[in-house]
Amino acid sequence: MGKQEKIVSMFDEIAGTYDVANRVLSMGIDKTWRNKACNLAYSFYEKKSLDKIIDVACGTGDMIDYWQKTAKKANVEIKNIVGVDPSVGMMEVAKKKLPDVEFIQSGAASMPFEEGVADIISISYGIRNVVERQKAFDEFARVLKKDGLLVILEFTKNPKENMLDHVKDFYMNKVLPKIGGMISKNKEAYTYLPNSIDEFLTTENLCHELKQAGLEPIYVKGFSMNISTLFIAKKL
Ligand SMILES: C[S@@+](CC[C@H](N)C(=O)[O-])C[C@H]1O[C@@H](n2cnc3c(N)ncnc32)[C@H](O)[C@@H]1O
Repeated sequence: MGKQEKIVSMFDEIAGTYDVANRVLSMGIDKTWRNKACNLAYSFYEKKSLDKIIDVACGTGDMIDYWQKTAKKANVEIKNIVGVDPSVGMMEVAKKKLPDVEFIQSGAASMPFEEGVADIISISYGIRNVVERQKAFDEFARVLKKDGLLVILEFTKNPKENMLDHVKDFYMNKVLPKIGGMISKNKEAYTYLPNSIDEFLTTENLCHELKQAGLEPIYVKGFSMNISTLFIAKKL
């Protein structure tokens, strides 16, 4: 099994307990990060009627739920919203929660959409798992409309500079694998999480890769002691 297949099968294995583990491990803070991402994207994009939002690496569908909830408050109409993920297990959970949404089994690097159809593409805590990352950024640029937005939420690699960074590091490397492992009965999956963050890009490098694909970062900000970073990039 290749690296990408292994990652996807790991998500298939933890799909059933993913939501509970997520809420416990993030202590609910991920809700505020998702809310911020959606609200800011709507305010940057300005249009009040969107043809299509594609949530890539949609997993159990949380981000789609937030796109829909925040759209109502912001008075934005979404004509079509689609979830994309290579893990059937994760999408089965999503389908139960969001029966009216369309879900498509696909990886990020090559997606079954025409050119220039999406107003917004989002990927929350997913890009770290995409082995062919630069190819995926090119693919997002192809599928986005001109001036369309790519919204990324991700745990990026940060230098450990102060005491709080070490506390965070201890939580991610020691506490999280234990709790996540207990809930999911799959310690390996929750050891993969901090390791994949350590192996991932810094904020600067990610911005550089986006620019190479013709996606211009217009808003980049770390939240909650830089645990989570939001990137909003515009298709030029
Ligand atoms: C940590 S989960 C995030 C799920 C969801 N977006 C959220 O915010 O809760 C990562 C997701 O990335 C998916 N994934 C793994 N490899 C992928 C790829 N090559 N392309 C797209 N998604 C991928 C996994 O199947 C999994 O559902």
